[in-house]
Amino acid sequence: SRLSFAVKTNANPMPEAERQAAFGNLGFGTLFSDHMAVIRWHADKGWHGAEIVARGPFALDPASSVLHYAQEIFEGMKAYRTEDGRTVLFRPEENARRFNESARRMAMPELPEADFLAAVEELVRIDAKWIPQGEGSLYLRPFMFASETFLGVRPSREYIFCVIASPVGPYFKGGAKAVKIWVSQNYTRAALGGTGVAKCGGNYAASLVAQAEASAQGCDQVVFLDAAEHRWVEELGGMNIFFVMEDGSLLTPPLGGTILPGVTRKSLIALARDQGLTVREERYSFDQWKADVASGRLREAFACGTAAVVAGIGTVKFADGEFAIGDGATGPVTTRMREALVGIQRGQRPDPQGWVRAV
Ligand code: COI
Repeated sequence: SRLSFAVKTNANPMPEAERQAAFGNLGFGTLFSDHMAVIRWHADKGWHGAEIVARGPFALDPASSVLHYAQEIFEGMKAYRTEDGRTVLFRPEENARRFNESARRMAMPELPEADFLAAVEELVRIDAKWIPQGEGSLYLRPFMFASETFLGVRPSREYIFCVIASPVGPYFKGGAKAVKIWVSQNYTRAALGGTGVAKCGGNYAASLVAQAEASAQGCDQVVFLDAAEHRWVEELGGMNIFFVMEDGSLLTPPLGGTILPGVTRKSLIALARDQGLTVREERYSFDQWKADVASGRLREAFACGTAAVVAGIGTVKFADGEFAIGDGATGPVTTRMREALVGIQRGQRPDPQGWVRAV
């Protein structure tokens, strides 16, 4: 890293007993560690002021441009404690690279990958005791937002980059149970040339009303069809999707500019191919999906992402009805893919690709 981080230790860390009690009931994104990493950017100074400080609020002027035009991007990644006591990150370079791809799309400054990685690693080191043992992990949330006090519509001349950390358990309330998804009739997530490919807050803001509709329908997640034809399956509210066919092959929608290029998606494609499975990145229509479930050609479907890991899809609900996939439970290929991935992430399986990085 070119930047060196000034470290100011939190004078009021959460008491050990309180943290241990909170670790007993981990959900997603409600509990936070003692520190945060911050780096500032100014058009005249570039990146500067790197520091690790007590986690706490930012003072923002009401005219801060992020509050008006939503110039904001983020990443999601996890730190794990392995059984032999190492602290590891999973492919953090992929997040660093994607962060800058998002930055370019949102007319924001790029953060050198080494500085991104240093910020994450410094935070993980100082808050290492916040990594839960066993099933949980420390979810890291790097993000950047426009902090210039200015209401004109142009790229901000000031930004704050920050990393916070949150000990997490399962993303879905039902834990490992197969999830139910709602096919959105009224909304789409992204159109070609839009921001679908970037990990910007706005994409998730745009998904919320569709996600709320999914919840009202008793579903865990929304699945979006493409914006142009409303025909092709794209992705869920916050994760990518895979299908498992009768012949054991996998199919996932191609990236093509509207789909978020998931690190978990990319890793599963590589893992499946290593296992000798055929993986096709091809468009798949909702009509075909229904037909393939009816004929038995489609055997399983699963959602994947850093937060959700790999989650079997048991039921699909849409405006005119619903259908189960297989027997409605997580299927064997999904389970095998999940175990292969988690095994590497947690240092329990060989890591021939060198995906795991010790902190
Ligand atoms: C992830 O980290 O997996 C995300 O995409 C963000 C959100 C769904 C929690």
